[in-house]
Amino acid sequence: MASHIYECIEKIGQSIIDNRGFLTELDREIGDADHGINMARGFGEVLAQLPADNEDIGAALKKTGMVLLSKVGGASGPLYGTACLEAAKVCAGRTALTAEDGKTVFAAVIAGIQKRGKAVRGEKTMLDAIIPASEAYAAAVDAGAPVDACLDAMCEAAKEGAEYTASIRATKGRASYLGDRSIGHKDPGAASSLLAMEAIRSYVKGA
Ligand SMILES: Nc1ncnc2c1ncn2[C@@H]1O[C@H](COP(=O)(O)OP(=O)(O)OP(=O)(O)O)[C@@H](O)[C@H]1O
Ligand SMILES: [Mg+2]
Repeated sequence: MASHIYECIEKIGQSIIDNRGFLTELDREIGDADHGINMARGFGEVLAQLPADNEDIGAALKKTGMVLLSKVGGASGPLYGTACLEAAKVCAGRTALTAEDGKTVFAAVIAGIQKRGKAVRGEKTMLDAIIPASEAYAAAVDAGAPVDACLDAMCEAAKEGAEYTASIRATKGRASYLGDRSIGHKDPGAASSLLAMEAIRSYVKGA
């Protein structure tokens, strides 16, 4: 996959910023109505600070992770920030990634989120979008599918995973304070993860 990492991160950031109201509304239902605000502030700062001519994927992800850690706050800042820092390590010095590399990046992202947040699948968090997406992506890569199809499989699974969060009870994060009352509401972090994955797909497809 050819890469211009700034444009990819810009697409993610723009989607988060455009959807800030939607993400905040989801968080109003089961949290404290700040997820969109937190994430939009963080990505606004990332886009302001990231050098547009940078080609080193590892360096760009490291910078992104550090800015998210320092500017997003809440639970999601450290989680997404650590995810980016772990992804940065496996992309150090790289200016392009193969479809196969995407599997390694996913593993690093998931490890980073779990290192920080100690959640597993099924606790109504961003992981319920990211883990199924990584599995669907890896299965498509292993089956030799073209990269566009791998990314479609990833986004489809992420969407299903984000929808699935509405059917389960939160056992991690602020939403867990609601117990059974969290059922029926989609998890905001799963929704922002889906947006990020859709933005990556649209960047790779040039759409
Ligand atoms: N332990 C965890 N592991 C993975 N994801 C988590 C965890 N805790 C929360 N999340 C994710 O973070 C999202 C909430 O992010 P948000 O920016 O609103 O932080 P917050 O919950 O308001 O943080 P705080 O309670 O510290 O203010 C949730 O929707 C969920 O996806
Ligand atoms: Mg919140």
